[in-house]
Amino acid sequence: MSHEVDLVGPALGLSAPDTAAVLETAVLAPSVHNAQPWSFRTTPDVVELYADRTRRMPVADPDDQELRLGCGAALFNLRLALTARGVRPAVALFPDPARPDLVAEVRRGGTARATPELTRLLDAVPRRHTNRRPFTDAAVGAAERHALCRAAAEEGALLHVVPPAQRAEVGRLSVAAHRRQLADPAFRDELLHWIGAAADRPDGVPARAAGPAPAPHDRWVVRDFTGGTARTRVPGRDAEDEPLLAVLIPHVTGPAAEVRAGEAMQRVLLTATVDGLAASFLSQLVEVPDVREELRRLVGAAHPPVAVLRIGRGWPTTRTPRRPLADLLRP
Ligand SMILES: Cc1cc2nc3c(=O)[nH]c(=O)nc-3n(C[C@H](O)[C@H](O)[C@H](O)COP(=O)(O)O)c2cc1C
Repeated sequence: MSHEVDLVGPALGLSAPDTAAVLETAVLAPSVHNAQPWSFRTTPDVVELYADRTRRMPVADPDDQELRLGCGAALFNLRLALTARGVRPAVALFPDPARPDLVAEVRRGGTARATPELTRLLDAVPRRHTNRRPFTDAAVGAAERHALCRAAAEEGALLHVVPPAQRAEVGRLSVAAHRRQLADPAFRDELLHWIGAAADRPDGVPARAAGPAPAPHDRWVVRDFTGGTARTRVPGRDAEDEPLLAVLIPHVTGPAAEVRAGEAMQRVLLTATVDGLAASFLSQLVEVPDVREELRRLVGAAHPPVAVLRIGRGWPTTRTPRRPLADLLRP
């Protein structure tokens, strides 16, 4: 057990070590560039999750939409960890207009018993990693696709699996958006800042978590975190032909809907992990506004998509660092 438990008091009827363990599960969530834009405050009655705006991405994510998705993913982990400890989480999103950074207030809403499905999702939390490497060409089966879509629906979002007729266009848009982002020096600077050079850095994306450097003939472009330490491309070992491409679309818009979408995204990612699937993101498709609008029209969505996932069967990848709890606790 981590020595950091001493920093966290008991909350929601849990012991102090259990409360710390719940927070440690929350922070294993994904976040843009692994910025981990969250902090917490605990009292005996409440666990508060805050957005940490000092860790925003003004260029890639000027509206903080992806920041809220990351907070939603952390909230989903937190809900799982509480449920597994017998606490039914009662969540209020943005409960205090005077404190707009307070994303969620979680109280004890009664007792809970984790279902086998929730237990499997919780077990998958430390095994889920963004996998930017090429996948094998083994297809994702219909039952797995169904489970992923159901995971999104359980959390109130729609997961649109891109059908064959739309794949080429999604690939074209992903390449075009990637090039546009890289042509912007401000985007490049922001990205470079988060490519972790120092081995002991507790945030950012280490080069070991990068995929191969993108090549001009790629049909899907995975963001380049190689930071100049480009892995040599193995000839013929390109990105897989047929990953499952899935577009996450909320049913409503606004900050709370984005947090909910982050919960849905994390449920999808954990469901994939449970089924032995790997996933990475093609966020350029939602970060470049007119590309996002083209994508929305292409998939026939009522609201703009908030995330695009590439899902398939991968070889194991590596974990990324996390900040110590001591740095995440608010007085
Ligand atoms: C909303 C969101 C968007 C992301 N977009 C991308 C992306 O476009 N490309 C990418 O390689 N990783 C993307 N990531 C993955 C993060 O870089 C990753 O979660 C972070 O480095 C932590 O690593 P982990 O997911 O392996 O725990 C995204 C994550 C989130 C939450």
